[in-house]
Amino acid sequence: MKDLFCVVLAAGLGTRMKSGLAKVLHPLAGRPMLMHTLDNVLSLKPVKTAVVIGHQAEKVKELLPPGVVAAFQKEQKGTAHAAGVGLGALRGANGTLLLVSGDTPLLGTETLKGLISHHKRKKADITVLTAFLEDPAGYGRIVREDGKIKKIVEQKDASPSEREINEINSGTYCFNIKNLKKALGKVRSGNAQGEFYLTDVIEIVRENGGRVAGLPVDNPLSALGINSRTELAVAEDAIRAGINRRLMASGVTIIDPENTYISAEDRIAQDTVIHPGNTIEGRTEIGPGCVLMPGNIISGSVIGAGVTVKGYSVIEDSRISENAHIGPFAHLRPGSKVGAGARVGNFVELKKASLGDGTKASHLTYIGDAVIGRNVNIGAGTITCNYDGFSKFKTVIGDDVFVGSDSQFIAPVNIGNGALIAAGSTNTKDVPDDALALSRVPQTNRENWAKENRNRKKK
Ligand code: UD1
Ligand code: CA
Repeated sequence: MKDLFCVVLAAGLGTRMKSGLAKVLHPLAGRPMLMHTLDNVLSLKPVKTAVVIGHQAEKVKELLPPGVVAAFQKEQKGTAHAAGVGLGALRGANGTLLLVSGDTPLLGTETLKGLISHHKRKKADITVLTAFLEDPAGYGRIVREDGKIKKIVEQKDASPSEREINEINSGTYCFNIKNLKKALGKVRSGNAQGEFYLTDVIEIVRENGGRVAGLPVDNPLSALGINSRTELAVAEDAIRAGINRRLMASGVTIIDPENTYISAEDRIAQDTVIHPGNTIEGRTEIGPGCVLMPGNIISGSVIGAGVTVKGYSVIEDSRISENAHIGPFAHLRPGSKVGAGARVGNFVELKKASLGDGTKASHLTYIGDAVIGRNVNIGAGTITCNYDGFSKFKTVIGDDVFVGSDSQFIAPVNIGNGALIAAGSTNTKDVPDDALALSRVPQTNRENWAKENRNRKKK
């Protein structure tokens, strides 16, 4: 939008969160709260956007996409002071300023667009986005006179009758930049909190003959300001419900949406069925026709079509090809790859390991730092011994290998195609193609020994 500039206020610590983490960094549906607000603002394509940072400035700055400028507010003297710092970073800005708080992530793009067009239509100097709340406690109240906005009074400064007002300030505004600059210079901090309130510019502009307009939001929930963990949970619920609704509309079955946790950046294709208690995050992509049984945690992964993930599996930064079966109780640690139609069963852990197409590791196995070919059978209890206490080493297993149960591979070790590893073998040496590897103590049987032992013990 040409002539639109944006400032996002995000310098406060958020005392009411009772947290060591700056408020805007608290995760909401899998990503920092600020990112939701920023997405909404940036989709308006402003000429320039500044984010006012202060508490944990470095961490907040790292989140900013290219082109968004950081404006450092050294001391948090109030929202008017913060707005001035933000404007300072938008040198040469002229026209309309959209100012939003980093802690109102539910204000969607459509609402912001509506505010901007209302502002322009009314030719206003300030347009405040308001909301009518059943419980307005904590918010600034909109004081009207003959229907027109006269001023905004903060909860802590409000008289008992002003506290009865249930129209509140959402903390989002459009300003005429020139008039805002003038008004900011006149804001004083003589109030209950000793802060420079941005809300004071309303009275200042009005008294100077400026026009102040107000636009109530359609859905009061969208104006939710997050100041406490309870409000964080309310926002989480609303965002999550929206994500799940969109996915269901696009053809994903979500059996229990209230107990399904999917973040905004994930992609899930049609006819995938998601059972309760799944958490999916970190830009995960899931193909069509998959089944996710209850209780999985999947992050940063790519899953092909027709994959079944049986319950209670953890999949991190891994790739799974079509029609594979994972779990129950499997753990795919970062860097794992599972081939088409492969199986990773109960209590199997993979780390930086790739399994070829059709390979099966069905029970009680650890495979780390390994490359395993196609159609390999990994018997129960197989372990790659990849670590000598100092360094990690690699195990390479070819195609069509049969690994008997309870085998160990002392890496580095290479097993040729078509080899057979006898059950219970500890493999310290490479095995050629098609060979049998056998490394276990020959069995001896002592006739009647057990019986005689029992009799000895009974005496
Ligand atoms: C503010 C409004 C209130 C409104 C509410 C809506 C003022 C004085 N009050 O109150 O009318 O109903 O939002 O949610 O504006 N910030 C800075 N630097 C500062 C101070 C604040 O960057 O010096 C940032 C905070 O990090 C936060 C935002 O500004 O993201 C709002 O500040 P906050 O302290 O949460 O204001 P409220 O008390 O909620
Ligand atoms: Ca707030």
